[in-house]
Amino acid sequence: MEITGPEQIAERLQGLRLPRHVAVVMDGNGRWAKSRGEPRHAGHRAGVRSVRELVDAAGRLELEALTLFAFSSENWRRPGAEVRVLMELFRTTLDQELQRLHENDVRLHFIGDRRRFDRSLQRRLTHAEEVTSANRGLQLVIATSYGGRWEIVEAARRLAEEAARGERDPATIDEASLHGALSTTHLPDPDLFIRTGGERRVSNFLLWQLAYTELHFTETLWPDFRAEHLAQAIEDFAGRERRYGGVQPEPLESVRDA
Ligand code: IPE
Ligand code: IPE
Ligand code: MG
Repeated sequence: MEITGPEQIAERLQGLRLPRHVAVVMDGNGRWAKSRGEPRHAGHRAGVRSVRELVDAAGRLELEALTLFAFSSENWRRPGAEVRVLMELFRTTLDQELQRLHENDVRLHFIGDRRRFDRSLQRRLTHAEEVTSANRGLQLVIATSYGGRWEIVEAARRLAEEAARGERDPATIDEASLHGALSTTHLPDPDLFIRTGGERRVSNFLLWQLAYTELHFTETLWPDFRAEHLAQAIEDFAGRERRYGGVQPEPLESVRDA
């Protein structure tokens, strides 16, 4: 097997059709730790290296956007100690990485219900978004305290409030206006969805945006995910035929014979 690091990934994928936007469910940290006889939080900590390598590789490929599912609306139900470790890890990683991300021209966005975070974390998120707001490289979206259903409900409420204020005629509400009220309205929909950890489900990630996304599942547990696995996912993507409900134009002969 060819082994690709972030440095070689652009060369390996040269000539292939690349996704503009990749969305990743980073799953399998707990099982990774368990398989080594370590507590779950060891898996979460080890997963930070995978995030760093993926962001580096995405930057080298000049992808437009990368969305990472870090913590779901439902993950709040986990034991308090695990939630605290995750919040602490989120805070320290952000503090450690912000400067380097900024130097690499990465623009950060956070999507999800941030009112559930403590004040100091909320301030850090706003600060990171403001510092990187003029950057023109990779748009890095971190979905945290995020659920696809939550996001659609928020968007629907916003439109309803506008209608109630008399600013919007309900008859004009269409896909474009709902899309405009989502937190990802500034991004193209994901072309490629990757889920690590072997489960084959969406788990309330980007429900609206994934309508025509190509899905790639891998058994690799998140802490083991490297640029090599991104390369494999993109090679899989490049071989897909996207039809969006239409048909591929047929070759001339078969049309004439019909
Ligand atoms: C993903 O790994 C990280 C988060 C959901 C925060 P898990 O913690 O879900 O790991 P598994 O699925 O239990 O192995
Ligand atoms: C999805 O993983 C959420 C994140 C990776 C942040 P989960 O581990 O929470 O999903 P389920 O419970 O297996 O569906
Ligand atoms: Mg999981």
